[in-house]
Amino acid sequence: MKRYLVTGSYGQIGMDLIPAMLKRYGKENVIATGRKKINPVFKELDVIYRRLDIRDQYGLRSLLVEYDVDVLIHNASVLSATGERNPQLAHSINFEGFYNALEATRELNLEQLFAPSSIAAFGPTTPLVNTPNTTIMEPTSIYGISKVYVELMGNYYNQKYDLNFRSLRYPGVLSPEEPGGGTTDYAIWIFYEALKNKKYECFLGSDVRLPMMMMSDCLKSTFDLIEAPEDKLQHRAYNVTGMSFTPEELANAIKEYISDFEITYKPDFRDAIARSWPQSLDDSVAREEWGWDPEFPFDKMVIEMLDGVSKKLGISY
Ligand SMILES: NC(=O)c1ccc[n+]([C@@H]2O[C@H](COP(=O)([O-])OP(=O)(O)OC[C@H]3O[C@@H](n4cnc5c(N)ncnc54)[C@H](O)[C@@H]3O)[C@@H](O)[C@H]2O)c1
Repeated sequence: MKRYLVTGSYGQIGMDLIPAMLKRYGKENVIATGRKKINPVFKELDVIYRRLDIRDQYGLRSLLVEYDVDVLIHNASVLSATGERNPQLAHSINFEGFYNALEATRELNLEQLFAPSSIAAFGPTTPLVNTPNTTIMEPTSIYGISKVYVELMGNYYNQKYDLNFRSLRYPGVLSPEEPGGGTTDYAIWIFYEALKNKKYECFLGSDVRLPMMMMSDCLKSTFDLIEAPEDKLQHRAYNVTGMSFTPEELANAIKEYISDFEITYKPDFRDAIARSWPQSLDDSVAREEWGWDPEFPFDKMVIEMLDGVSKKLGISY
């Protein structure tokens, strides 16, 4: 069995990824890392957890050696909205952090480096409807620029050093877990506010269509790509998606369950970011090369999110 180390494991995705990895790969083969102290969920699960700031290249290397790691999953990142508030921080964590992960993978000859990209890697000059896997990538946010860096450097190390780099361009990922400061976060907070206060002020305009996927599909795509045989892969980074919707469409779907729910719109700087991103993604390359097949449609997502968030808040609907 291979050994896996995950950076930024405390984040929205890590909180679901780590428990799923424990089941799949065994407790002794998963090392979760993060900047903060171990959280109660990981403690309860008896996860191997070590503190690591990804900018600490020596700390990263010594953990990879200590646990004899084969696959590095690099999730630590500053997300889009937080990045626009502090581009210097985003630069140091997203660029230097990824470079440390890349160099450690090369120097220690690890079997694989997986690092997520994002729909943020695209920009206003990209064809925004049914965005193809290979197209113009001229993002305008520091976060998006850092994801293009991840993809291009990963590709470069693959060609130059035969480093097994793999990446997925996740759309907005939906789960009852609190999100980490991205532009698609509205699609999670709307459920919290609908259940708590029956109203939500959306920071995007009513008509901003964005691609999204449920967490279970995000994890499925991640495991499918990490475990895909190398000879199937013609690319290093892949579009994946589950659905696309606007805030208005999501609000209408929530109203079917909470009839007095009200939404208002007060677009801020995140509206401009969102409008520069794809409205929908063409993920046929992932489907063809390694059999990507999402399982979660929009209607099922709405029920799952209402159930999950109401359980978290202890509020029924
Ligand atoms: N959640 C989404 O909708 C989404 C969409 C597209 C791509 N992604 C990508 O998936 C990955 C995980 O995203 P997420 O939603 O879990 O993000 P998140 O913000 O919830 O979690 C990121 C984690 O990185 C940690 N981190 C920040 N700086 C660090 C540092 N210097 N050293 C170590 N850890 C540090 C944070 O503490 C946090 O726990 C990221 O690369 C993100 O860009 C996420």
